[in-house]
Amino acid sequence: MSVLDKFKLDGKVALVTGSSRGLGKTCAIGLAEAGATVVVNSLSLEGSQKTVDIIKSAGGKAIAIPADVSDPIQVNSMMEVIIEKLGHLDILFNNAGIAAVAPAEEKTLEEWQKTIEVNLTGTFIVAQAAGKIMLKQKKGSIINMASMSASIINVPQKVVDYHASKAGVVAMTKCMAAEWAPSNVRVNAISPGYHMTEMAMQWSDVHPTWIERIPMGRMADMEELQGLVLFLASDASSYMTGSEIISDGGYTLW
Ligand SMILES: NC(=O)c1ccc[n+]([C@@H]2O[C@H](COP(=O)([O-])OP(=O)(O)OC[C@H]3O[C@@H](n4cnc5c(N)ncnc54)[C@H](O)[C@@H]3O)[C@@H](O)[C@H]2O)c1
Repeated sequence: MSVLDKFKLDGKVALVTGSSRGLGKTCAIGLAEAGATVVVNSLSLEGSQKTVDIIKSAGGKAIAIPADVSDPIQVNSMMEVIIEKLGHLDILFNNAGIAAVAPAEEKTLEEWQKTIEVNLTGTFIVAQAAGKIMLKQKKGSIINMASMSASIINVPQKVVDYHASKAGVVAMTKCMAAEWAPSNVRVNAISPGYHMTEMAMQWSDVHPTWIERIPMGRMADMEELQGLVLFLASDASSYMTGSEIISDGGYTLW
């Protein structure tokens, strides 16, 4: 098998949470281009279906399944539908996430709990449900969406709950990787820097501050994450588990 063949995902099923827009959508399209049948998940059927339509119009294969990642009942029924319709689950890009700005001393308990519920507990719920399937299959690749915010503190926006949630995702990734490695289920985390998504665009007034601190001098296009997700999803990374890969234009160097 040539090295390029190792990146191919033909015959594989990939679930991408939070893929109605942003990094999830872009990477879902990338995984479909590499040959995977993609399950597009987000909170709404309408939003998920739009990504499915883009994938299908380019000749790819995809289905939409709405579910709230922080609700174990909805996640378990999503997994049942995947197995019923597609027979197996080979890749999970556990991407869904939220962020809300407030200084630590003013952050309400409700805001804290909501961020932890979606970003950390939701990521755990989906990874656990996918892990159960993959452990039985004796193969699978899980990519958890962390952030460079797991290692540094963002400036100037104050997001204490977001930092805590993403650091938790990295620790959880290493733990699952160690537990599931004997069953050939790989679990890795990716930690992007600033990408131009709808989430990041809501803070466009502070982009100059961000860009000043990025050695590469620019934010990333969403497409710049596709190759990393494909690498970790595919057999090209067959000996990698428990890693956190940072893709941040050098932000965490300074
Ligand atoms: N944009 C960045 O610069 C950046 C940097 C580092 C990490 N991240 C992380 O990447 C991920 C995607 O970020 P984005 O910028 O594309 O965000 P976005 O807001 O553009 O998209 C988020 C997606 O998650 C979905 N979602 C939100 N809550 C959900 C829930 N409870 N259940 C199911 N789906 C849900 C939304 O419907 C949407 O599809 C997040 O986890 C974010 O923390 C983003």
